Amino acid sequence: MPKSFYITTPIYYVNDVPHIGHAYTTIAADVLARYRRLAGDEVFFLTGLDEHGQKVQQAAAKAGIDPQTHCDRLAPQFQDLWKRLNISNDDFVRTTQPRHTRVVQRAMQALFDKGEIYQASYTGWYCTFDERFWTEKDLENGLCPDCKRPVEQLSETNYFFRMSRYQDWLIQHIQQHQDFILPRSRRNEVLGFLQKPLEDLSISRPKARLSWGIELPFDSNYVTYVWFDALVNYISVPGYLSDDTRFRKWWPATVHLVGKDILTTHAVYWSTMLKALGLPLPNTIFAHGWWTVEGEKMSKSRGNVVDPNVLVQEFGVDAFRYFALREVPFGQDGDFSRQALIGRLNTDLANDLGNLLSRTLTMIVRYAGGVIPEPTTRAAHELDVQLEQTAVQATAAVGSFLGKLEFNRALEAIWTLVQLGNQYIDKTAPWTLAKRAEDKPRLNTVLYNIAEALRFLSVNLFAFMPQTAEEIKRQLGFMVTFSKPVLGGEFTWGGLMPGTEIAKGSSLFPRIDTTTKRQGDTGVTDTQQPSPVPQPASAASSEPTTASDTAQQITIEEFRKMRLRTAKVLTAERVPKSEKLIKVRVSLGAEELQIVAGIGKKYEPEALIGKTVVVVANLKSAKLMGVESQGMVLAAGDKEVLGLVTILEEVEPGTKVK
Ligand code: MSP
Repeated sequence: MPKSFYITTPIYYVNDVPHIGHAYTTIAADVLARYRRLAGDEVFFLTGLDEHGQKVQQAAAKAGIDPQTHCDRLAPQFQDLWKRLNISNDDFVRTTQPRHTRVVQRAMQALFDKGEIYQASYTGWYCTFDERFWTEKDLENGLCPDCKRPVEQLSETNYFFRMSRYQDWLIQHIQQHQDFILPRSRRNEVLGFLQKPLEDLSISRPKARLSWGIELPFDSNYVTYVWFDALVNYISVPGYLSDDTRFRKWWPATVHLVGKDILTTHAVYWSTMLKALGLPLPNTIFAHGWWTVEGEKMSKSRGNVVDPNVLVQEFGVDAFRYFALREVPFGQDGDFSRQALIGRLNTDLANDLGNLLSRTLTMIVRYAGGVIPEPTTRAAHELDVQLEQTAVQATAAVGSFLGKLEFNRALEAIWTLVQLGNQYIDKTAPWTLAKRAEDKPRLNTVLYNIAEALRFLSVNLFAFMPQTAEEIKRQLGFMVTFSKPVLGGEFTWGGLMPGTEIAKGSSLFPRIDTTTKRQGDTGVTDTQQPSPVPQPASAASSEPTTASDTAQQITIEEFRKMRLRTAKVLTAERVPKSEKLIKVRVSLGAEELQIVAGIGKKYEPEALIGKTVVVVANLKSAKLMGVESQGMVLAAGDKEVLGLVTILEEVEPGTKVK
């Protein structure tokens, strides 16, 4: 019997267009939903909109339209964004839908009939922004303790939910269910909150003050408090009080994902509501952290609200999905910056993953006629065993990390395989194997293994980056149906079918150009190219040093004009129609250069990727066979290149060489 996995996001207020905060939770939920489907669970993934309440009424009034029209206009913005982000939700609830309002009224009536709701008059401090009353002692310096805005004293007759009677029970439930509130630190916060006496909760609003809500079934002068309406979406949609079989299948929810700001409403209001209704509690409520933007709180007034649509357009959907979950451990606060996103895209996605695929495809075209070769021996080599084991272990690790909602660690586990794949190529050096006919069987095995590692990567990446996973699959031509429970059944190393034709396509992640103007750094004021370019002895000649070398002495100042740096080779490809020239893109840490080097007779481009070389970084740019070169890669040899200059120790790219 497949397990039922029911996951929800908060339902978002339609007072404004969606931003990265909304996208964040929804992407996280999507990854879990996709992964559980792959693992063979039956999944119900619900998201939607919270359309009632003061915030929405105010936004509509501001726009000069009635609230329903306002909601109808904004709802497609959320739905379109979810499509653009490849969100695989199974339903989309809007709290103005009759399927929901009906259930809210039935539930309210049931609670009223049971005596869980009573009417009373109340005087308190009301925060319009948060739509809630506070007691005198709750206030902080006379302001709302939550949003720090001014509050006003109001006296009202309202309906109250007997929340206070569930305080002890709730404390016990939280203590007995370790995973009920996660992360642990948040769980402690809720327990801390429950140290203070829990008051009954006002669950109505007089229509005279707020008309935009679901009418109370037992008093038409009131509408339902927006949270008492919204939270019910989690049960109204899967069939509470309307379809018992369906409801039994999905409830209790496996996980409610929420932001840290709405944990109390979920952990306390929602739990006690469920208890009063006689329903079991969800397994887990997970509260994630908040994003700041370039170090600042995101807000409309600051004008720094990040529109996910723009990010998708600029960087692609999968780069954004990857960044959102890779950058910050889920549960902690994080900072969004374009630079950080570009960094991840260029490094992890373009250099590591993108390169691995393109190198592999290039070699399969060049050395195996564009067809996945038949491996001759299985696990013949220590390197093969290591690759296979890492692929299998990474696959298991992804499952276990996602079980704990540790998205970033799951991605780290996947990247151990990406990196090992690249190292495997470097170490097995297929370009060398290709030179000797007797190495052909080994070459085939190596190429097969890399392709198989990529098949594993594609399956593991699917939940995070569905489009990328599909593209890897398409280019390598293997058979996997991601809509089937691939990981639920047999998914083993060696499943890749030899003989399939590959379809090398465009690169997975085009790099974002971060090349900076190279001026004024390292104190070089003279922009003139030092002439003649002094060559360090190691690169000068394959001949022993002669007297004429020493004759051309230079001063230390002249030498210092040269900006010598270590550089990591990111990409390398042959310059078309040239036997000698290879175009490399190198990273100097903060900047990148494109250099055309005459090393093509000595090296295959694939062998250079990932290597640390030494470059002259302030050479005036020149064009070689029409291709711009912004520096020089140092190599030993004169007419003939004998070897590239490298560094004995591991050093960061961009380190000064002197
Ligand atoms: N409508 C309620 C939820 C009802 S659930 C039954 C609501 N809506 S909201 O639109 O204001 O916020 C929805 C979610 O967005 C919350 O989980 C909140 O934490 C999240 N975020 C809002 N800004 C955020 C960031 N800057 N960063 C991360 N998430 C943030 O509350």
